[in-house]
Amino acid sequence: MKILGIETSADEASAAIVEDGYKLLSNAIGSSIDITREYGGIVPEIVARSHLETIIPIIKQSFRDADLSWDDIDAIAVTQGPGLIGSLLIGVMTAKTLALAKNKPLFPVNHVEAHVYANFITETKLPGYSLNGTTPAFPVLALIVSGGHTQLVLFKDHHDYQMLGQTRDDAVGEAYDKVAKITGLPYPGGPSVSEAAESGDPDAVKLPISKLDNPYDFSFSGLKTAVLRAAQAQVGQDYTFPSGSLPELLSKAQVADLCASFQKTAIKTLVDATAKAVNQYHPASLVVGGGVAANTELRRQLQANLRLKPIYNDIKLCTDNAAMIASLAYFLSKQSKPHDTTTLSPLPNWEM
Ligand code: KG4
Ligand code: ZN
Repeated sequence: MKILGIETSADEASAAIVEDGYKLLSNAIGSSIDITREYGGIVPEIVARSHLETIIPIIKQSFRDADLSWDDIDAIAVTQGPGLIGSLLIGVMTAKTLALAKNKPLFPVNHVEAHVYANFITETKLPGYSLNGTTPAFPVLALIVSGGHTQLVLFKDHHDYQMLGQTRDDAVGEAYDKVAKITGLPYPGGPSVSEAAESGDPDAVKLPISKLDNPYDFSFSGLKTAVLRAAQAQVGQDYTFPSGSLPELLSKAQVADLCASFQKTAIKTLVDATAKAVNQYHPASLVVGGGVAANTELRRQLQANLRLKPIYNDIKLCTDNAAMIASLAYFLSKQSKPHDTTTLSPLPNWEM
């Protein structure tokens, strides 16, 4: 079964074709990241307008890359939520229109759950992909770490899961993005902060780890504020000094130390909670999904501290992409009927 996936929940518009949930036939991604970088973050209206212009060319590209036509497609999958309402609308309206016009069944999926399914994609002939090649065995413990989400979820089977814990405030990727802003590094913060961290001392600045009642819950807002206070102190200013003026005063070495100390603390928080869940629930596999799963230090620390080898996929499948949408839809199509094509609408706050 070949499914066309469409994803437009945040700042990337993407279309992909995946066969039987595991075989990647194409994964076209048109990012509005240049616009986002120009503004230092996502401006929802501008991103939605960009998706409107690019989504049809991207879908066409996904067919060209897979060397397929509409006759080969068995179903359409689309991100219904969570995400930015304007961005989601473009994908949902496009998917509904195509499902009606081409007479294909339509499967809406949850974007955050789909991040887990990026790890079920194990085969491709596409150039430039290095896939994990191992189908995750159930029960699967999933660490989902992105710009919008940080959660630990235990999957007993496909689509049958228990939420162990999640962030109470900022997502870990969001914390990376905010630390980038404080230190004057470019958006998105994940890659730029981790690059700066390489030349810094992770023990230079002592930062707090939040302790919550549920050991699987997270909080990153206090960590971000602690980085801000440390940066203000380093340039000899108090907490009243505006964060926007800090980058000019911070030296390259100070930025590197702040980034390294932040990254060490953020990753320790994730790894400690994951290790605890592995010991308590004895999953058969551990998968890591979401944009922060691309982080090499996180991968290294998970590998070093867990008694289960973590599974993560090619970076292009960790950050937002439509292949994971098409993969999850395949497994859903085994369990449930397609959605009515005319009544589907976005769910911007849809929690897993
Ligand atoms: O999954 P994603 O593409 O979009 C959301 O669903 O949020 O994740 C984007 C987030 C951003 O916050 C970005 O800073 C972070 O993932 N990110 C990283 C890395 N690459 C992207 N964080 C840490 N290290 C990275 N290498
Ligand atoms: Zn995402």
